[in-house]
Amino acid sequence: MSTTPTVYVGMSADLIHPGHINILRRAAELGEVTIGLLTDTAIAGYKRLPHMTYQQRKAVVESLQGVTRVVAQETLDYVPNLERLRPDYVVHGDDWRTGVQQQTRQRAIDALAQWGGRLVEVPYTQGISSTQLNESIKQIGTTPSVRLSRLRRLLDTKPIVRILEAHSGLTGLIIESTMVELDGRKLEFDGMWSSSLTDSTARGKPDIEAVDISSRLQTLNELFEVTTKPLVFDGDTGGKPEHFTFTVRSLERLGVSAVIIEDKEGLKRNSLFGTEVAQTQSSIEDFSERLAIGKRAQITEDFMIIARIESLILEQGLDDAIRRAEAYIEAGADGIMIHSRQSSPDEVFAFCELFEKLPTRVPLVAVPTSYHQVTEAELADHGVNMVIYANHLLRAAYPQMVTVARSILEHGRATEAERHLATVKEALSIIPENAR
Ligand code: SPV
Ligand code: MG
Repeated sequence: MSTTPTVYVGMSADLIHPGHINILRRAAELGEVTIGLLTDTAIAGYKRLPHMTYQQRKAVVESLQGVTRVVAQETLDYVPNLERLRPDYVVHGDDWRTGVQQQTRQRAIDALAQWGGRLVEVPYTQGISSTQLNESIKQIGTTPSVRLSRLRRLLDTKPIVRILEAHSGLTGLIIESTMVELDGRKLEFDGMWSSSLTDSTARGKPDIEAVDISSRLQTLNELFEVTTKPLVFDGDTGGKPEHFTFTVRSLERLGVSAVIIEDKEGLKRNSLFGTEVAQTQSSIEDFSERLAIGKRAQITEDFMIIARIESLILEQGLDDAIRRAEAYIEAGADGIMIHSRQSSPDEVFAFCELFEKLPTRVPLVAVPTSYHQVTEAELADHGVNMVIYANHLLRAAYPQMVTVARSILEHGRATEAERHLATVKEALSIIPENAR
């Protein structure tokens, strides 16, 4: 009695297009098709998080003609699933013969050889690709609810979520589109930080909550018009508790994913001044109440209110910091940010160790401005879930602007400044629509 051959097809299946259908058709001709559907974690390990969740993608793929079953493929590597299922065939597009997937392909071929299985490659379907579709989707934009919920998905799937400061449409665009390919992985920032320091500095104002919330929301609007990535909002102290209710609602309505408020009160000064200026930390009770007010105001399930602990900034010690972390989680905080202005990460790591032992674990955020030697991998190893580069684009632009202004004054002309400048052509091409 002959049994039907078994066929394995690995895919992300985020944006199903005719290329996928060609592969499935060929697979179904060969036998009974099992789809190895890449999990969000497997995909996020080498490129952007998919638009649809695993469950949504599974629902789509399960109902495609010729698909018998869908199993999770937990890694980019096919081998674990192939060794478990021992299929007669693997079917894949022939585009993986070159480029970053070559090794994955070879490992699949070697695994199949163990039981006499074969790789069948389908010619790449010209004129359509997920990369193209992703570009078009980016141009269409996103909706507030999709953007808002994306941060929790990233936290669920990535070892560490990487966030960079944005204070204008242009900085937002840089975060949206900067990508580096390294060892076959596409590295991008996962989202934006609306920093009170850089949003106020860009307006020529001090970081003392003098830029009111309406102005801060204006910046968010500008950012959201030209980006699709999620945003974490620096809510300073949260303002008056009665006002925080409105802030939370406004942020959710726009599609902001999280607000971080710090446990200080009175005139807020930037944390990196530390004890050089007068700053008052709130009592645990008062700040817990502020958090609870925010949580009660929140409408969507996915919005996050993250509590920022200033104990290390204000030299109150590790015990105070961890006591506060426990109390703030108890009060409803969806995450904890531990801030430090030391030049080494040691005190943050000491905090991380105690944090791991707390009865309830929520995402942990670190802001390595002063201890910048630390790597993302080290932070992740210590249990940090989100890293925020809090002021770097503004600090990049400022010295260049001053240099150019001085150069023009010194030389009475602009020629000497040219070497510090983008050409006009480059400046025009920052915004692709300029050319259309
Ligand atoms: C900000 O970016 O505004 C912050 C982080 O709050 S810090 O400047 O380090 O206080
Ligand atoms: Mg701030």
